[in-house]
Amino acid sequence: MKSKMLIGNWKMNKNQIEIKKFSKTFLKLIENKPLKKIIFGFAISSINLLFTKELFKSNKNIIISAQDAFYKENGAFTGCDSWSQIKSAGIKCSIIGHSERRSMFNDTDEIINKKIISLTNNGMKAILCVGESLEERENNSFVKKIKYQISEALKNISFDAIKNLIIAYEPIWAIGTGKSASSNDAEEICKLIRDEIRKMYNEKIANDIYILYGGSVNLSNIKEYLNMPNIDGGLVGGASLIPTDFYKMGEII
Ligand code: PGA
Repeated sequence: MKSKMLIGNWKMNKNQIEIKKFSKTFLKLIENKPLKKIIFGFAISSINLLFTKELFKSNKNIIISAQDAFYKENGAFTGCDSWSQIKSAGIKCSIIGHSERRSMFNDTDEIINKKIISLTNNGMKAILCVGESLEERENNSFVKKIKYQISEALKNISFDAIKNLIIAYEPIWAIGTGKSASSNDAEEICKLIRDEIRKMYNEKIANDIYILYGGSVNLSNIKEYLNMPNIDGGLVGGASLIPTDFYKMGEII
């Protein structure tokens, strides 16, 4: 059976002292009782990526991911980190298209597509985030919205490149609000995403691709999500900041 995946999205949280403390506690838990069926990962602010990678180096299975990567290799783009700079620093993964980047930093579907192409064509993993607003959920246009985001993000992504993609369904109204989607609603959209991938690619790719749910995931609701057939893991914000909680999530699923 496929391993489950838990990615902690730390957003703009934790300084180096706090990361050190977290890694010490988390690694101790993993060393005392390794969870072989769980792939853990952390998406870290770029300033702390290498620092964190070094702290977690004793456990090769933990994914250290960026939170964004620009699609150009280099140039006059003040404040950006390019996919190739991230890759050359030994980081092999980045979140792309998180709703906070879509809404606050003007990451359009076209830009997101370019970022995904640049990562996945260059052997890096991309965690694509999609999700609807509260308005779109309430006026029932959410299915259309998710299908649109998927088809735009995956334009010109080859059969080889798609193998480097992870998709996270994160309804915007559930992020950081304490209001999570019901496990049935989350399953409905994760299944829809898998069906879209099947149509665009093939059965094997659709089965192999990791589809995560994110949005107010915590210790008390994680198991319910992960019991769903099309939810392979979680993209966890707030609840991933506490090492014991995040480890326990892996332990109970
Ligand atoms: P949350 O964040 O778990 O704090 O809702 C999830 C995310 O934004 O990835």
